[in-house]
Amino acid sequence: MQEAGLPDHLFEKYSELVYRECGINLHQGKRALLQARLNKRLRATKLPDYETYYRFLTARGNTQELIQFLDCIATNLTYFFREIQHMKFLEQILPDLLAEKSKRRDCRLRVWSAGCSSGEEPYSLAMCILPHLDDFPECDFRILATDISTRALAVAARGIYPKEKVLKVPEPLRSRYFRPDPSDRAAAQYHVAQALKSIISFRRLNLKDAYPFKGPFDYIFCRNVMIYFDKSVQENLVNKMSAYLSPGGYLFVGHSESLMGLKHSLKYVRPAVYRK
Ligand SMILES: C[S@@+](CC[C@H](N)C(=O)[O-])C[C@H]1O[C@@H](n2cnc3c(N)ncnc32)[C@H](O)[C@@H]1O
Repeated sequence: MQEAGLPDHLFEKYSELVYRECGINLHQGKRALLQARLNKRLRATKLPDYETYYRFLTARGNTQELIQFLDCIATNLTYFFREIQHMKFLEQILPDLLAEKSKRRDCRLRVWSAGCSSGEEPYSLAMCILPHLDDFPECDFRILATDISTRALAVAARGIYPKEKVLKVPEPLRSRYFRPDPSDRAAAQYHVAQALKSIISFRRLNLKDAYPFKGPFDYIFCRNVMIYFDKSVQENLVNKMSAYLSPGGYLFVGHSESLMGLKHSLKYVRPAVYRK
């Protein structure tokens, strides 16, 4: 099992592969990370070195290992109510959208959490939106939550989180939508309420691929995902996602991301919020 340095030519081959497959830009600063993740896959596959693993990974039909490898590369950091300004803004704009929909007898409310990681983002969105639907019971509200990482998606679909994470959820939403695990006497794990789970569909989707759904979405959240991509991948992604927004729909990106310098047709609304 190889632990010595990753040679330059292999670093290049792996970074090209990662860029081609999922758009993530592994520059030299990510070299140690790549090597650490490769060591993990060498141990799991019992292959002797980076060269052999590269051949194994790129062999025709080995999509299963490619999925596992990309799982290891992606950074999945997330938490409930991250960038809470977005949630507050969403609560401001939602009543108008619902009133307009109700007038048009359009009951469909669609949200896409693109790059949802382990689920904290779509669950937070569901918690923000659901209380506003009390006066619009016929509303058909669904969240599509996608990510490239099957590992993160498994956590999301399970909907069980450690107490420290759940403490980020403001009251009264926390009491309303979380229950301590009944089999855990220490109450260290919490279950997400079925009311939230039932409106979210978790799916694996590589944002670089074609999208196998029609949309359109009223709100798309693609936050802290594009930061790993270079400008050309970002531009392509923003334009692709814009086509899936309904007219007047909003795109939310992370506050450390910006569409500045990218060619797109969305209108800037406020930091990290754009509108079609
Ligand atoms: C840092 S997390 C952000 C999670 C959440 N949106 C938030 O803001 O807290 C970035 C997520 O993007 C996903 N990701 C990276 N490249 C992707 C791609 N090409 N297609 C789909 N998801 C991708 C990663 O797997 C990871 O879960």
